[in-house]
Amino acid sequence: MEALITVLPGDGIGPEVAAAGRAVLERIAERHGHRFKFSEQLIGGAAIDAIGEPLPDGTVASCKDSNAVLLGAVGGPKWSDPNAPVRPEQGLLGLRSVLGVFANLRPVTVYPELAAASPIRAEILEGVDIVVVRELTGGIYFGEKSRDEFSASDICKYHTHEIERIVRVAAQLASGRRGKVCSVDKANVLETSRLWREVTDRLMAAEFPGIELETLLVDAAAMHLLSRPADFDVMVTENMFGDILTDEASMLAGSLGMLPSASLGETRRGLFEPIHGSAPDIAGKGIANPCGTIASVAMLLRHSFGLAEEADAVEQAIARVIADGCRTADIATADGQTLSTSEMTAAIIGKLG
Ligand code: IPM
Ligand code: MN
Repeated sequence: MEALITVLPGDGIGPEVAAAGRAVLERIAERHGHRFKFSEQLIGGAAIDAIGEPLPDGTVASCKDSNAVLLGAVGGPKWSDPNAPVRPEQGLLGLRSVLGVFANLRPVTVYPELAAASPIRAEILEGVDIVVVRELTGGIYFGEKSRDEFSASDICKYHTHEIERIVRVAAQLASGRRGKVCSVDKANVLETSRLWREVTDRLMAAEFPGIELETLLVDAAAMHLLSRPADFDVMVTENMFGDILTDEASMLAGSLGMLPSASLGETRRGLFEPIHGSAPDIAGKGIANPCGTIASVAMLLRHSFGLAEEADAVEQAIARVIADGCRTADIATADGQTLSTSEMTAAIIGKLG
């Protein structure tokens, strides 16, 4: 197939991991006879430095013209001044919004060989295979904000249709997996959560009677995620809860650097990015873990291009290098050798043949 991919390296380790993802796409194209064209564009702090805004029009236009978007990360201390008129994160949030990618799929895959890298006991990690479906374009992230000298507010608002469409994504996903959905909310306190629960209960009963529905309050869910992670199949939740729970869930996998994500909307064009941030502390050192980005490339191939075989090949390549003992610093064992970002990427590409 022929496809256009916009690559948004962004800030911090973003350019390093985005380059790794692009290299994997190039190899896949070569091995499987596809023509992928790339357009690198500015976003985040890099865009602020270059043109004064975090989401240039040219970036939006390129993304809209593309079949898929691959993003590294945005943000960093350089742009964190609370009084700054613009922030790098606005670029990412704005992009999610203009692309309409409301469904953020965050799979939590636990490779048995990485059990030692997790702070959780190995027997608790056995059989863990979760997809967190995070609502991505609504809630407190996008509600009206206000600020005066002594007070500030962020409005959290959800509309029924926003809840329905994300719960449908979760339930459809679960029907191809173990048939279980866990909806996470804070219905004992928040009005938006009471609506979330009402809509979820109604929709699941009407449209997905065969799917098992569990409901947890977010504080309890944070605890159950560590005490019985193997019980969960698909978890669905609102924007901010999903952000927080997936950073927590990454510790099951051993490192924040392992987790990929796919942000999907009504069309096939998706936005694919690792769940980690720009990690300014290790930026430029060439030691970032590229696995989250490379696994995001697998999701890109599957969801935006329908290339299941190629997606499987990438996922298997990651699993095989992990099984071989290849480790970046974040998942290294005390006695083992540590690979750089480009060495890890080369090892994964090597498994693609
Ligand atoms: C993520 C990140 C972003 C978010 C930030 C960078 C805006 O933490 O993708 O999880 O909060 O969604
Ligand atoms: Mn996050």
